[in-house]
Amino acid sequence: MSTDVQRNVQNGKNHRMSKDETEVKRFLEPFRLSQKTLQDISSRLTQDMIKGLGRHSHHKAPVKMLPTFVRATPDGTEKGDFLALDLGGTNFRVLHVRVNEDEKSVLKMDSEICAIPQEIMTGTGEQLFDHIAACLGTFLEKQGLKEQVLPLGFTFSFPCEQKEIDKSILIRWTKGFNCSGVEGRDVVQLLKEAVRRQGDYEIGTVAMVNDTVGTMMSCGYRDQSCEIGMIIGTGTNACYMEEMCNVKRVEGEGGRMCINTEWGGFGDDGSLRDIQTQFDLEVDRSSINPGVHIFEKMISGMYLGEIVRLLLVKMTEDKILFSGKVSEKLRTSGAFLTKFISEIEQEGSGEENTKRILSDLGLQWSTADLRAVHLICDTVSSRSAQLCAAALAAVANRICTNRGLDHLDTTVGVDGTVFKKHPTFSAELRSMVHKLAPKCTLKFIVSEDGSGKGAAMVTAVAQRIAAQSHLIDDSDEDELEEN
Ligand code: GLC
Repeated sequence: MSTDVQRNVQNGKNHRMSKDETEVKRFLEPFRLSQKTLQDISSRLTQDMIKGLGRHSHHKAPVKMLPTFVRATPDGTEKGDFLALDLGGTNFRVLHVRVNEDEKSVLKMDSEICAIPQEIMTGTGEQLFDHIAACLGTFLEKQGLKEQVLPLGFTFSFPCEQKEIDKSILIRWTKGFNCSGVEGRDVVQLLKEAVRRQGDYEIGTVAMVNDTVGTMMSCGYRDQSCEIGMIIGTGTNACYMEEMCNVKRVEGEGGRMCINTEWGGFGDDGSLRDIQTQFDLEVDRSSINPGVHIFEKMISGMYLGEIVRLLLVKMTEDKILFSGKVSEKLRTSGAFLTKFISEIEQEGSGEENTKRILSDLGLQWSTADLRAVHLICDTVSSRSAQLCAAALAAVANRICTNRGLDHLDTTVGVDGTVFKKHPTFSAELRSMVHKLAPKCTLKFIVSEDGSGKGAAMVTAVAQRIAAQSHLIDDSDEDELEEN
């Protein structure tokens, strides 16, 4: 330990900066974004959102702005039993959900998590859907539900061109999935065919949703002003209620439709090149889908740990950390898990956690190293929270402008491990959104099992609307008869 560093340790917070600390800060400089830059990024996203909504411009738009065919949020009268499937993170889940009108609750009756082995994640589509259908069959068997034909909400958290609520074409895989023969195909069809192949149970009507939509809808049953759904987990994305007259790709002018922004693809046309660091470029280059979902790769759980790892390797090679000795483990891609960032930044236990994590990575650390690692994690997670804030501000400002309001009060349903588990992420995100969207007051509801329950909710709302339109049709007929 150098004498400078020793003085720092002794002096606690008011320490004079050592040469090494100055170096650490210099490295991290490109990760620090001013409020002005964030404002500018927010405006760029607004432009891309407009492009994505356009009838012709959407073909080339990096932010896809996908219509979801969800036209209404819950009104609190929905009810019944549903099945839900949730595919899109590291696990796949099957749920039996009861929507209870009297208590305004969406109850998870039971659920089961099935792992998706790596070879299935990158195998054939048929293998993937057979695996899903088999897990569903086993669940129904255990729950004694095999004889019933329940409606099913399918949360499929990948970019899909939705044609109808039950017809959804996968545009491309993200987040480490890469099953052959699925891109360009209707995912609901593939699921139904796989259920048919199982041959010993049936499913009712199917509604397909993105996890952001599920999250918005499940929070929407509790709070009917919930009009934005946001995920910051393995991936990141948001949906919101857009005016139909702006959704040029879908017929009809009246009312609203939920739009799945797929904001993870922001920057895929190079528009974020000025803020990408050499580490972001490296993460992208070594991913299974280079050039795709650039914004997501700067923000979400699948990538944050890797950004930190690359920073640690480079700073050690430059002899700023760990006496210049890189361990074999640290050199291994994926070795620094995103959850380590939360553990290191945890108040109280953070320092002990850092020591354990670094030792497990085979590194020999000094007290100055501990402080530097904390600063690195804090910088990378802060940037993620601030970029999310810039994106959320773009969405909130858009809703406000759409409705010609001076002030917007709305609720955001949120899910995802990064938002839920990181000790300061949510506070930082909220405070920055407040600065970037001063005309909007956002309330955040953290969703529990949102994407699964929400899929059931979408199915329930679709059934309510179908039932209501039947009633209207019937009353029209009555009127005709009377006339
Ligand atoms: C990825 C997917 C998107 C999903 C998000 C969060 O960005 O493309 O559909 O909503 O991850 O899971």
